[in-house]
Formats: sequence, structure tokens, C-alpha cells
Amino acid sequence: MTAKDLRDKYINFFKDKNHVEIPNSPLVPENDPTTLFTSSGMQPLIPYLMGEKHPAGTRLVDSQNSFRAVDIDEVGDNRHTTFFRMLGNWSLGDYFKKEEIPWLWEFLTETLGLPKEKLFITVFDGFKKIERDEESYKIWADLLTKEGFVPEQKIFFAGVDKNWWSRSGTPDKMPVGEIGGPDTEVYIRFDDIEHTDECEGDSPVYCECGKFLEIANSVFMQYKKVTEEDFDPLPNKNVDFGGGLERLLAAVELKSDIFETSLFHPTIKTIEKETSKTYGENKKEMQIITDHLGASVFIILAGVRPSNKEQGYILRRLLRRAFDNFYTLSGKDITSIVDSVFEQYKETDEYLVSKYEEIRNVILEEERNYKGTLQRAKAFISKKYPETGDEIMGEKKTISSEDAFILYSTHGLSPTQIKSLGFDFDEQAFAKKMEEHQNLSRAGAQQKFRGGLADTSEKTVMGHTATHLLHKALRDMFGEDLHQTGSNITTERLRFDFNFDRKLEDDEIKKLEDTINEKIRENLPVHFEILPLEEAKKLGAIGLFDEKYGNDVKVYFVGDYSKEFCGGPHVDFTSKLKRFKIIKQENIGHGQRRIYAVVG
Ligand code: SER
Repeated sequence: MTAKDLRDKYINFFKDKNHVEIPNSPLVPENDPTTLFTSSGMQPLIPYLMGEKHPAGTRLVDSQNSFRAVDIDEVGDNRHTTFFRMLGNWSLGDYFKKEEIPWLWEFLTETLGLPKEKLFITVFDGFKKIERDEESYKIWADLLTKEGFVPEQKIFFAGVDKNWWSRSGTPDKMPVGEIGGPDTEVYIRFDDIEHTDECEGDSPVYCECGKFLEIANSVFMQYKKVTEEDFDPLPNKNVDFGGGLERLLAAVELKSDIFETSLFHPTIKTIEKETSKTYGENKKEMQIITDHLGASVFIILAGVRPSNKEQGYILRRLLRRAFDNFYTLSGKDITSIVDSVFEQYKETDEYLVSKYEEIRNVILEEERNYKGTLQRAKAFISKKYPETGDEIMGEKKTISSEDAFILYSTHGLSPTQIKSLGFDFDEQAFAKKMEEHQNLSRAGAQQKFRGGLADTSEKTVMGHTATHLLHKALRDMFGEDLHQTGSNITTERLRFDFNFDRKLEDDEIKKLEDTINEKIRENLPVHFEILPLEEAKKLGAIGLFDEKYGNDVKVYFVGDYSKEFCGGPHVDFTSKLKRFKIIKQENIGHGQRRIYAVVG
């Protein structure tokens, strides 16, 4: 069974249970300023888990490409990757535990044929006012008893650290407004791995030795954090199931190391060939190269280019880490590895094929830049430490931790790379500087998170409605060829891109503002309808047509002024926007103009 077969089996299994397949969302989210990447299947569905109506209905299934930057340092074992495909089935207030759990078991054991005796279950043990999940336990216990197992030997309870899921982790880490819920997980046991002496604890599945691999997670997404202490129930009891395609494939192939599955193995083989080293003796390096190049391919595909900022910085870090590990193994030409990574993904992600040249060039150009950086770093050190002479590889030279940190922060070299250049430095002093640096960036990230929770903070919702008004006002002024080409909304401002090849005059800006403020004063009601695509088009609804939700689409109406395809959410009456003001415009190239505006 290939990764593609597995994915198709999953999607078809849930389609047979009346789920509608929805498309993969972009890896770099458009309208979510709180996060750099889509890191789970639930992220693009947050508004719907919070109660918005989804145009495709209440039962959905998908495969979502996901990237977790927090796992970069975890890669280098048998199971962690930063990039993965998350298979997901969703109940938006439709079915719940008594359907989800038996379906999951049926899919794993009958459709995939996983050995029942190797599967183990975990269930939520309760936390403060949120009760222990006896209901899931009972469903699993009945099911496993029928299969001839003793429930106590198969099902384990665990607390919020393990069996609670939200984007930010345990309940105490969740910001007010965030959603989450208890979950039940399935693990597979690999008999070729032995527990180590450190593997203790209440349940045998949670240790770090890799003997057990989590392959499936059904989150019962039903709570919203409302104060530092309390949770309210969401309008619906939802199911958010997530299973990593790569891990499920490892379970099917009974490979305790996902890098040895049919998906990753050909790339590992290519690395072995290019470096004349064996995987067995160089696992960590080869795992990092394989994962990081794969993740980079998808991040580049999403339009990101290596830089020193945000997504671009993460991409640069991934690529340079992959290069470092490749050079450590004395690999010379990385091109064939990049080609192999494309081969690895092209069956499941066919659209990669047409972007092959472009993506490969970005990677190779970054490699050239990196080599330049290494040269400059060497020059920097030769200048500061003339006694090192031209030849700095070879004998170890000691440099100050300040200079090592400059090599890291300015030249982008990792501590390992600095050492491999032949430099020693005080590692503790370096680690201290690194911690200060990380605390600063973490503070920045938290600031970002507080900036508004995904799509649902009040200011962001106002921004969504304002973009509909702006879109319509622009088209009324400049004709129907004008259309939105992008947008990004934060609690501070909204940004709106459209095809227009000149500057807007002051009087045009004023006219736009006046029109929109007039619509705000009219206090128009905002509502949505779910309509067949053709009917929506006939009605003259505008918007980006590339979202395919089966045949039905969701159209938001602002009075009878604007009709636009949109997932929502929106304010209920335009007066909630109070006031609209354009604060800046700019030319973003290729005949595109960008407007920044504020509301409230
Ligand atoms: N949201 C859960 C996860 O990402 C299940 O989809 O693991």
C-alpha cells in the first residue's frame, strides 16, 4: 500500500459514511496573523468548530498538509517530522464518540488491516471541572471486550499533558478565546524496540523510547476558554480526528522507523549513495536531511522564499540545517537528494511536478548563498583572530562566545556548524546568550498570539466585513474587472490587494471611505446563505472562486449591497464597524495595488 493508496482509502472510508471531501488549505494561512504555518487539520476549520456553518455540511473529510516549526529540534529519531499530511474527519455538531470510536477501529483494523493485538488506547483522565472521559472508556472497553481483549490491558487514562488537545497545548497555556478538548489516542507497539530503563510511568505507551507510536487522535472539540480558569461549552460538540499519513504508513508497514517506510526510504538510499555512508550509522543526519528538504519543498511551494523574517527565516533554517548535515556526511552535490524528495511526494501531491524547476532553483540558490555566508564568516574570524591565518579548518581555535554568537545571529551559522569550521567557544556562555535571544523572540510570538485569536476576535471579524464593503465599493468605482487578489486581517488593520495599476487619487480615497462609512451608518444586516455554485454566480456573488466545497458555496450578503463568497465569520450589522479609514496604499508590483485600512 503506497502513501497515496492509504490516503485514498481513508478519504473513501469516510465518504462512504456521508462525509464530504474538502480541499487542502494553504500551508501559509491567508487570514490568520497568529501563526506562521498551518500546523494541523483543525486550524483552517476553527470558525466552523466554533459554530459557523460550513458550506459542505456537518461531516467533512480531508488530508491537510501541515508543518510544525516547534518540532524542528525533535527531528532525528524514528518518528518526528516537521512536515506531514494530516488525515482528518470532522463532525461539526453531528456524530460524536459512539460513532467516531468504532469507525476509527474499523478503519485501522479492517481497512488498513493493522494487527489488533499491537494497538493500545489512551483516554482523558479529567481536569478540574472537566470530567474524566468515562464515556469513551466504556465505548472502547465494550468494543475491545467483544474482540476478546481485557480492557485494562489495552486502555490507559492520562491527564491534560497527554490527552487534551488545543493549538497551544494544555489548558493553562491556552489564551482566552482558544478552543480545545479531551482526546482519545491510538498507539501501535513495535516489537523490535525494547523499553529502556527510563521507560516508566503509569501507562506503558508514553515513554520516549519509540516502542509505541501514536497513530491516531480523536479530539472531542467542545470547549472554549473564557477566563484564565474557566471553560464554556462550544455551541456544538465536534469531532476533530487527526492521523499523520506518514505514521499510519509506518503502522501498515510495521516499520518502527518512519524513515524506513516506502515513502522515505528511497530518499535515504539516495543520501547513502551520495555520501557513501550508511543509514545505520548516520541516522540522525539522514533523517534531518530528508525531513527538512521535504518540508522546504512545500514551504517554497506556498510562495515563501528564504529570508531573515518569519516564514522565510524558518525556511532558511530548515535548508541550512539540511545542508549542514549533508556536509557533515561529506556529501557534495545535494541535487540528487532534492530530486528524490520530489519523487517521494509526487504521487500524493501531483501539483508539485509543474513547480519542480522553480522550487529546485530556490533550494540551490540558497545553497550558493549559504556557501557565501560560510566564506564571509571565515573572513570575519580571520580578521578578528589574525593568528588563525587563512587556514582555519584543521586545528581547533578558541573564539569568544560573543563572536560565536555573532556567527550565529548575523551569519546564520548553527553552533554545530561553527564547531565544524574548527572553532571552540564557551558553550555555557553561548547557551546563555541564546536563551536571552529566545526569550525575546518568544515574547514577540506571544505578543503576536495575543494580537487576536485566529479569525474570531471581534476586531478581526469587523475587518472581514469591512473587506467585503471595500471590495464592492472599489468595483462600483472602477468597474467589474477589478477583483480581490489577496487579503490579510489582523486586530490592528486590514490589508486588501486588488488588480489595479495606478495610485489612487486623494479624492478617490475619500470617495471610497465616504461610501463605506455611509453603508456602516445604514446599519445593513449581514447574513449568509448556502447556495449551489451556479445559483450563487447567477446572483452576481463575487469573490475568490478557487475554494471547492462540493457543489455548494457559502455567500455572505451585506444588505443588498454586497454578495460575496466567504467562509465567515462576520458582524451581524454594519454599524458594528463604527468607522472605516484608509491609512496607506502601495504598489505591490505586477499591476497589483494594496490598501491598508482600519475600522472601529
Ligand atoms: N487537532 C488534532 C491534532 O492536530 C487532531 O486533528 O492532532
